[in-house]
Amino acid sequence: MKNVILIGFMGTGKTSTGKALAQRLGKAFIDLDARIEEEYGETIPQMFASKGEAYFRSCEKAVVRQVSGRANAVISTGGGTVKDPENLAMLRQHGIIVCLSASPEAIYERTCRQGTRPILDAAGTDKTSRLRRIEELMEERAPMYRQADFSVDTSDASPLLAVERIVRILKGRGELHG
Ligand code: S3P
Repeated sequence: MKNVILIGFMGTGKTSTGKALAQRLGKAFIDLDARIEEEYGETIPQMFASKGEAYFRSCEKAVVRQVSGRANAVISTGGGTVKDPENLAMLRQHGIIVCLSASPEAIYERTCRQGTRPILDAAGTDKTSRLRRIEELMEERAPMYRQADFSVDTSDASPLLAVERIVRILKGRGELHG
């Protein structure tokens, strides 16, 4: 079976759902952000602070190139990975693309801790401005997320429930046996 690639906005549960999905399907789990941090020896907030977003995106693309060639894995991407169409094309070669979505409010609640999401921290700590930033970015990225093979809303779902929803759809599409 192909890889299963999770795309979607920050805070939609790509990492936790990806981990549980890999376990459920007996596949390897690869978290792109963790792989970037390992490979380049810095946390993502450090990379943004010391060398900027363009540097981070070039590291991200190099890691996408590495992992997209492998088989039988669940790969969780970062929220901005699909901004580069070449990244999506590479991941799609051996994978089915699943988008996780959630409401701006749910995303706010899950990402309000400062210091982990440099893209949102730029909006400051105030709830109204952070929510506005989430909505703006979601709108900007919507066309990229729409390129997924299918989407699952996680606003009201635990990672385990999201896994069940994904597995049901994969089965319905004939992507899983048993
Ligand atoms: C980003 C999302 C982050 C991480 C980086 C940039 C984005 O990943 O890759 O901070 O541009 O949306 P998560 O979606 O796992 O938070």
